[in-house]
Amino acid sequence: MITKGIILAGGSGTRLRPFTKFTSKHLLPVYDEPLIYFPLKTLLQMGIQDILLITAPHHADNFLELLGYGNEFGARIEYKIQEEPNGIAAGLLLAENFAHGENVALVLGDNIFFDDLSSAGKDFSAGAEIFITKVEDPERFGVVELNGKNVITLEEKPKNPKSSLVQTGLYLYDTTVFDKIRNLKPSPRNELEITDLNNLYLSEKTLKAHILENEWIDAGTFESLLRGAEMVRKLKNIP
Ligand code: TTP
Repeated sequence: MITKGIILAGGSGTRLRPFTKFTSKHLLPVYDEPLIYFPLKTLLQMGIQDILLITAPHHADNFLELLGYGNEFGARIEYKIQEEPNGIAAGLLLAENFAHGENVALVLGDNIFFDDLSSAGKDFSAGAEIFITKVEDPERFGVVELNGKNVITLEEKPKNPKSSLVQTGLYLYDTTVFDKIRNLKPSPRNELEITDLNNLYLSEKTLKAHILENEWIDAGTFESLLRGAEMVRKLKNIP
């Protein structure tokens, strides 16, 4: 059972320029809703109402205007600024005080899930859990090789993917996560990488996977944002 969730909505959004020169990609529309509503609704669906939203410095005020302290959503939202886009794991480290010694869920602010996740994380107690899905272009993602629910290998953008299953932007972590992040070394692109973090759990044999059934969208490009808008419009039965 997890009660605390973190939405990571910093980053630079270079693939969505020119819009991300003046706003955050997470505030762009997915048909009739801002992108950030989707990861927020994912956490709420998981029964998580205590939420930390991590943003880049420039657009934090816009998030506050849009979401406030979460009352409208039946949530309690706190904010924290990630000064530099120095990686997803680096962003997560900013949530240590917020976590206050409890297990946490992390969702990336540009991810849209179409699964029912209301029972996700209910039996989570230790280790880490990733949410995985089949894609046609696994070499662009963190590729997962499975044995039942246990992860055997996790490789970031491999040239020869071992499967077509990839990790999405939803993760559950136990209380050891922050010490693990402190042990990470920056990658060649100078970021603390989420795949390196998950590989630390894998080396302890405590990395589990939850296989998603429905489509998942990483809305970081114009193509995927459009796909998201089409999916949302269809789900709302708008002709
Ligand atoms: P990415 O899409 O990998 O990076 P980005 O948002 O900077 O975009 P681009 O590659 O087009 O420049 O990030 C995935 C999600 O993680 C996204 O919602 C932003 C978030 N993120 C942070 O909050 N902090 C970070 O340091 C990074 C790298 C990403």
